[in-house]
Amino acid sequence: EKGGFDHFMLKEIFEQPDTIFDSLRGRLDEQRGMITMRGVEEYMQKFIDAQRIIMVACGTSWHAALTAEYMFEELCRIPVEVEYASEFRYRNPVIHPGNMVMAISQSGETADTLVAIEEAKKAGAIIFGICNVVGSSIARASHAGAYTHAGPEIGVASTKAFTAQLAVLCMIALKVGYEKGTLSRERFLHVLHELALVPEKVKEILQQHENIKAIAEKYASARDFLYLGRGYNFPVALEGALKLKEISYIHAEGYPAAEMKHGPIALVDEQLPVLFVATRDRFHEKIVSNIQEIKARRGRVIAVITEGDEVVPHMADDVIAVPAADEMVAPILNVIPLQLLAYYIGVARGYDVDKPRNLAKSVTVE
Ligand code: M6R
Repeated sequence: EKGGFDHFMLKEIFEQPDTIFDSLRGRLDEQRGMITMRGVEEYMQKFIDAQRIIMVACGTSWHAALTAEYMFEELCRIPVEVEYASEFRYRNPVIHPGNMVMAISQSGETADTLVAIEEAKKAGAIIFGICNVVGSSIARASHAGAYTHAGPEIGVASTKAFTAQLAVLCMIALKVGYEKGTLSRERFLHVLHELALVPEKVKEILQQHENIKAIAEKYASARDFLYLGRGYNFPVALEGALKLKEISYIHAEGYPAAEMKHGPIALVDEQLPVLFVATRDRFHEKIVSNIQEIKARRGRVIAVITEGDEVVPHMADDVIAVPAADEMVAPILNVIPLQLLAYYIGVARGYDVDKPRNLAKSVTVE
């Protein structure tokens, strides 16, 4: 059942070229230059008219929402608020009839998310669900939605569901932005093309598992880890840190790289590994100077970089190179080495990564 892999988590990480392909399949049509998603089409006018979108989710799905915030704001010019479902629910949030609330959940059974959307529904919001499990409670409680089609996810640490969520959210943002007219045909087609290339690029990244395993073994005894990224790579840093915590029990924190100087930099010494998600994008020069700041304090730097980067390898202790991609789809690629790193560190420390302590696959209590 694990298809020859030692753990479900590893099997699911390696399935991603197929699962991402499955979430694009039947929707993204590169030849005709269009995206078909019935649930989105049905509510297109609501999306176009939306004064804002509220996204509610927990854990890894919350990280997908955070990435989507950047996508929707950029492509659709709609302000997005990303909320932890649990906090949203208890805060007496301001929701008006007709507001769009997007709920993101792999299982579709997370109690915090389910209760949050039920409250929002009472206030008259339109609920758009993005779930992996077909027919799940959140899917049923939503007015409309889109499934992620990643297939059953068994590993407690979410991996393939996350990349499918990103693919689906990117398609929705593209479709809405294009219909709304906030996105040019040229940019629409470019990102569409970039999305279509993702499954092949993921395959390339997975081929580097030996390199990533070696890096994992080198850092497996660390006590703490810092993950840093900017822009689209900031949520990736958060997700990398969460994966490491869940699977290896190493204390890890994710931060926007520029925020480091406002506090976390005090933690940096020769013991601390700092992982930079530093692929080439509009922030590249900035993140290079953040890397220098860490090296100046003798931190150990692991960097996820774009293939062909000639600068960062001279500064970092270890690098993992990924294929070049548009910054909007880059998170789907950049998270893959972080999933593998967490996995191999957990294994190196002797833990059963499929049954991390204190965690359940879906949290059905509030
Ligand atoms: O099923 P959901 O996407 O609603 O679950 C949300 C979180 O409980 C989940 O992502 C959790 O953080 C995972 N263990 C992350 O790997």
